[in-house]
Amino acid sequence: MIYPILLYGDPVLKVKAKEVEKGTIDLFKLSEDLFETMKSASGIGLAAPQIGKSLKIFVVDTSHLQDEAVNEFKQVFVNPKILEETGRPWGFEEGCLSIPGIREMINRNEVLRIKYYDENWEPHEDTFDGMIARIIQHEYDHIMGTLFTDYLTPLKKRLLKGKLGNISKGKVDVDYIVKAPVKK
Ligand code: NI
Repeated sequence: MIYPILLYGDPVLKVKAKEVEKGTIDLFKLSEDLFETMKSASGIGLAAPQIGKSLKIFVVDTSHLQDEAVNEFKQVFVNPKILEETGRPWGFEEGCLSIPGIREMINRNEVLRIKYYDENWEPHEDTFDGMIARIIQHEYDHIMGTLFTDYLTPLKKRLLKGKLGNISKGKVDVDYIVKAPVKK
């Protein structure tokens, strides 16, 4: 099932999501819905809060990434916990399906160690680096109630205020289904 993607300004995007309790939701279905919704928007990552479900789960699929240097990677992350972030911080212009039309340079650590469960409740502990680490860090932020715009300087935020206001009113030019928090 394809869900509308919540746009910037929705309060669900700003709260820390709850841990998933085993047996309380159909994890397989939710994972599939996240992948399907992400694919409909040509995304490379999507977190449950972005479809209005405040749960600690996100998916990553790099097949839509226009970067041949990155290996194909597809994974569900349930109740993830970042254990360590190391390596040199590097900058990249990030975007977000909930903040269409805005891309900003964000610095993140190069290497990430993370533990999580998959959709079959199998535990994992892995190390990622480079672009895959960055996508995971971005999605992890979503389940902690953080958006990339939270890292911008006050000046930059002021410059984007009009654009962000328009996004929260649903004035966006995208070919996927969105849900705006503010009535036009
Ligand atoms: Ni995002």
